[in-house]
Amino acid sequence: HLMSISDLSPAEFSRLVLNASSHKAAIRAARDAGQPPQSLYGKLTGQTVAMMFSKRSTRTRVSTEAAVTVMGGHPMFLGKDDIQLGVNESLLDTSKVISSMTSCMVARVGPHSDVAGLAEHSAVPVINALSDDFHPLQTIADFQTIHEAFRQRQPPSDTTSLGLGGLKVAWVGDSNNVLFDLATACIKTGVDIAVASPPGYGIPAAMKQVILSAGAGVSSPGRLSETTVPEEAVRGADILVTDTWVSMGQEAEAQARVRAFAGYQITRALAERGGAKPGWKFMHCLPRHQEEVDDDVFYGPQSLVFDEAENRVYAAVAALEAFVVNKGKVV
Ligand code: CP
Ligand code: NVA
Repeated sequence: HLMSISDLSPAEFSRLVLNASSHKAAIRAARDAGQPPQSLYGKLTGQTVAMMFSKRSTRTRVSTEAAVTVMGGHPMFLGKDDIQLGVNESLLDTSKVISSMTSCMVARVGPHSDVAGLAEHSAVPVINALSDDFHPLQTIADFQTIHEAFRQRQPPSDTTSLGLGGLKVAWVGDSNNVLFDLATACIKTGVDIAVASPPGYGIPAAMKQVILSAGAGVSSPGRLSETTVPEEAVRGADILVTDTWVSMGQEAEAQARVRAFAGYQITRALAERGGAKPGWKFMHCLPRHQEEVDDDVFYGPQSLVFDEAENRVYAAVAALEAFVVNKGKVV
C-alpha cells in the first residue's frame, strides 16, 4: 500500500521520482508519434483500478484515469454518491468486496484512518489519493518537478539519489496534508524545509514526530524549521511553496482562516523582503486561490505550477507500476 511518503525508504522514493521522469519522456514521445507508449501499454491490460473518491478532484482523478489508460487498464471512478460506502455499508465490507473484483483501490478520503482501514482489509494494493493527513502522489510529482528544475545545478552522485541535497524549500501558509508528505520527502532527500504558519496553525506535535522520524538512517537528512514569520522562512530559499488556506472539509472555518492567514500571501515583494535566492521558483499543488499567492508570482516566469500539475500523471504511472504491476517493489 502507499499511504504516505513515510512508507518509502529514501532510495525507493528517489526511484519513484526518477521512474516518473522516464515515463514522462516515453509518454510524450509516444504522444508525438500518435501511438500508445510501448514501454507501458499492456502493464495493466485486463485489470480494473477502483477509484473511490469521497471528495472533489481534478488533477488526482484525471491523472489516475489517464495513467491507468496509458497502461492498458480500466479506471473505474466511484464517487461518493455512486457506492454504498459511508451510507449503507461499512469500510470493512466495502474493502473486502471491491478488492475481490479489482487490482487496486485508489482512495480519496477525509480522516486518514479511512484509507488505512481500506488497506487493512484489502486483498489488493491501496493508494492514498489524499487524506486529511497525507498526499503522497502529489509529493512524487512535486519532487519530479523540483528535480527537473534543479538537477543541472546538483548532478546526482548515483542513480537512486536525486542530488537535491542542500536545496531549501520555504512553505508559507497552512500546515496541511500536502505539507506533511512534502516535508517528509525533504527530510529523506536532504532538502531543508522552513515552514511559516500563523500562530495556532503550525504542524501538530504528533505529525512533527512522524516527519522528523523520516531522517532515521539518512546520512544528511533535510532540516525542518518552523516560524510564524513568512520572511524568515523565505530567507535563502530556492523554492517557495504554498497551498490553499482552507482545505476540503474545513469550509466552516473559512472566514476565520482567511483572517488568520492575512500577511501570508506569497508575492514577489515577500520573496525580496525575505531574501529568497536569486532564480527562486514557485510551486503549488492546485487548486489555487489568489489569497495565498498573487497573479504576478502564480503566472510569472518563476512559477512551475503547470509542469507540477502535468507531472501528476507520470507520478501516478510510477506508483501504479510499483504498487500494482510490481506488487510493492520499487525498482
Ligand atoms: N492537487 C490535487 O490533488 O488536485 P485535485 O484536488 O484537483 O485532485
Ligand atoms: N490541502 C488541500 C489539497 C487539495 C489537493 C485539501 O486537502 O483540500
